Amino acid sequence: MQALKQATQSRKELVIGLIPGDGIGRVVLPAAQRVIEAVSSSSDSKIPKTSFIHLDAGFEHFQKTGHALPAETVEALKNECTGLAMFGAVSSPSHRVEGYSSPIVKLRKELGLFANVRPVKSVKTDPRQVDMTIVRENTECLYVKEERITTDSNGLKVAEATRRITEKASQNIGRIAYEIALLRANPKLTIVHKSNVLATTDGLFRETVRNVQKSDERFNAVKVEEQIVDSCVYKLFRNPEEFQVLVAPNLYGDIISDGAAALVGSLGLVPSVNAGDNFILGEPVHGSAPDIADKVPAIANPMAAIRSAALMLEYSGFEAEAKRIYSAVDKVLEEGSIRTPDLGGKSSTDELADAICKNL
Ligand code: NAI
Ligand code: MG
Repeated sequence: MQALKQATQSRKELVIGLIPGDGIGRVVLPAAQRVIEAVSSSSDSKIPKTSFIHLDAGFEHFQKTGHALPAETVEALKNECTGLAMFGAVSSPSHRVEGYSSPIVKLRKELGLFANVRPVKSVKTDPRQVDMTIVRENTECLYVKEERITTDSNGLKVAEATRRITEKASQNIGRIAYEIALLRANPKLTIVHKSNVLATTDGLFRETVRNVQKSDERFNAVKVEEQIVDSCVYKLFRNPEEFQVLVAPNLYGDIISDGAAALVGSLGLVPSVNAGDNFILGEPVHGSAPDIADKVPAIANPMAAIRSAALMLEYSGFEAEAKRIYSAVDKVLEEGSIRTPDLGGKSSTDELADAICKNL
């Protein structure tokens, strides 16, 4: 990822892909775009001239065209964008729809985005001080989506799924988790697993992440702990302050990060980046929120998407600019008068984006 940072910083121009998707993805992504534009056009910004390409994906696009992730979108991300993009959210139905498959899961594979980094952090005024980063493996586990259905001898259905854990992907995620832990003063890494039951798959994950520590002397500074996933959830709710960096296989990482979002007040606050060697894709942790997607004016909290834009900039080497965005968001939260309904307020998406832009 260091190579990507250097390459991005030496560019004369940035081209950022924007994939709003469905539901509130369409209102939070324009807010994120506004903030990127505001921060990059300020006089002391190191971000070069930036343009955006708007790209299709999602369930509505699938209903219109039969393609959830059009080839043109993947092509533009790979060949026109400069290794940077933002994803909103897509609506994936809970029942099987012939021919449909979640575009974000496919995109993570297409772009080699092996890590999903999800910081969950309180602001100063929060009653509980949480500051953790969940590092989720992003390419395998049950999300390989190899499911099959057969029948037993009584003619009853049997559904099965493959859960794949590889040494390679576990090494990749382990390495980035140690690197992220090293950014802390007293680095601590918690390996989340269930290898007391799944000794082969989670056993390989656990062992590989532990072995990664031996691959780089710097990693010796990291204190490594383990937590079985179910008791990890218990501890997350009881003593969230104890966690710093957590590394987990794909499904556990997905679940604990939505849970951790509740500790800081709303899913509408929690950002992520999907990171690979050649691409950074910012993406809020939340989904398309169909329960609020049609409200006029829009009331979705854009902070998760805006913080995801900041993470995307941070991971591509524009740390100072990212910091300005984090501070602007924190200030609005700490001040507290402008809040969307998920945080108990009455403000709209645009009012919140306005307030953040004003603070930049
Ligand atoms: P969700 O994250 O969309 O919503 C859960 C709850 O949080 C809802 O009450 C929603 O209103 C609220 N919420 C989420 N984001 C918010 C925001 N920015 N501001 C204010 N409130 C917010 O999860 P849900 O309901 O389980 O899934 C809805 C759809 O989203 C499904 O079709 C699911 O497949 C999809 N989804 C897509 C993801 C992605 O594209 N990366 C991730 C998770 C779910
Ligand atoms: Mg999720």
